[in-house]
Amino acid sequence: MAYECIIAEKKGKVGLIKLNRPDALNALNSMLIDELAQALDKFEANDKIGCIVVTGSEKAFAAGADIKEMQAKTYMEAYKEDFLKRWERITHCRIPVIAAVSGYALGGGCELARMCDFIIASSSAVFGQPEINLGVMPGAGGTQRLARSIGKAKTMDMCLTGRNMDAEEAERAGLVSRVVKEGNLVDEALKAGDKIASLSRPATMMAKEAVNVAFETSLAEGVRFERRMFHSMFATDDQKEGMSAFAEKRSANFKNS
Ligand code: CAA
Repeated sequence: MAYECIIAEKKGKVGLIKLNRPDALNALNSMLIDELAQALDKFEANDKIGCIVVTGSEKAFAAGADIKEMQAKTYMEAYKEDFLKRWERITHCRIPVIAAVSGYALGGGCELARMCDFIIASSSAVFGQPEINLGVMPGAGGTQRLARSIGKAKTMDMCLTGRNMDAEEAERAGLVSRVVKEGNLVDEALKAGDKIASLSRPATMMAKEAVNVAFETSLAEGVRFERRMFHSMFATDDQKEGMSAFAEKRSANFKNS
């Protein structure tokens, strides 16, 4: 399907989504958010896709929500449409989603990247929540999800002063899982995506679900949820295959069942 604001393509078993509004540094307007949701729906519904990579350009993953689109909004419009709620579609994706970030990931761009399961950044990546400079505050999870990744001190610093964080600091702070050389970003993200997609789809989906429970519940409940989910894996063909393959010193042939 042809999109206007994104490019979506299959790369083997990985779905690659490129945010594509170069003239606006991939500012996230409503059309882009709708198209992103459609592309996620399609990849998620395809059993042959085991992981999704979301990326932007070298200059910008995304420079935030589209300021020009939202500047004239009234309170009633924002409230009635529940503005920014649709952005959360990506957090409901059941298969793993990697953000591959180069250049600016600001405001909503930083929030969208953080909604993915993990972030691989190029050394040029810049993360920030500059909304305070516009007379507003983050609205797509910046004060909440960021705090859960990098803690109160750095979240307050970023949200209150609007200062940016480079890739090295973002990795140190725990926002980014790894930093790779500029130019290698998409290849490295696709390599990680290929690895995930080569594994048992139900196992990666369940592992993702269990990690996410850690952010929603107590440790005791989370550990119990994990153990129950682990027990359920003994009902899968892929558990039998994976463990037999190890014992027989061969590679596993997962059937996603
Ligand atoms: N919305 C709309 N358009 C944007 C945009 C945004 N968030 N960011 C950049 N653009 C547009 C610029 O207006 C410019 O368009 P024109 O050529 O038509 O003038 C084009 O993209 C290129 O941008 P610049 O000329 O500004 O490029 P630069 O290299 O000089 O600066 C930048 C890059 C520092 C990222 C700067 O563009 C900038 O500060 N952008 C805004 C960042 C921001 O404030 N983001 C937060 C948005 S609010 C939000 O996201 C709320 C939320 O929580 C969801």
